[in-house]
Amino acid sequence: MTIRPLIILPDPLLRQLSDPVVDLDGRVKTLIDDMFETMYEAPGVGLAAVQVGVTQRIVTMDATRGDDEKQPLALINPEIIWSSDDLKDYEEGCLSIPDYHEIVIRPAKVGVRFLTLAGKVEEREMEGLAATVIQHEIDHLNGKLFIDHLSKLKRDRVLKKFQKLARHQGGV
Ligand code: NI
Repeated sequence: MTIRPLIILPDPLLRQLSDPVVDLDGRVKTLIDDMFETMYEAPGVGLAAVQVGVTQRIVTMDATRGDDEKQPLALINPEIIWSSDDLKDYEEGCLSIPDYHEIVIRPAKVGVRFLTLAGKVEEREMEGLAATVIQHEIDHLNGKLFIDHLSKLKRDRVLKKFQKLARHQGGV
């Protein structure tokens, strides 16, 4: 397993639509293994493949906290199939937008359908932190970031900050 470099705002790849996975081959398995390693190392609770530069619809997550036993979950081609009317707010962050946190309001519970690496279709109900994480990660697969849920004023402020940082580093 390898820790892969994370892409950071304002990398234009973060705005790209990821493609559905067609072949569940060894490359997908290696990618998922590397995504878990990268996510746990960061540390983060969720990661979309695009964040390591691969525009395929793959998410890894683990919404357990602290010393609880780890529950790694890899979702291939995940889709939200329903969401609750009740909403909840949660202070979100993103490994591609380091050191920035802001409250985002999303449905409190969602139903998710996805493929496992074995090619099995699974459906799960998620709530609490897991519901936030999966909605945040599926947004990534659609080129959307959590800052898109904020006011234009807040979004512009964070964009400007990261554009400036990238210029200083000679990046994008
Ligand atoms: Ni993120």
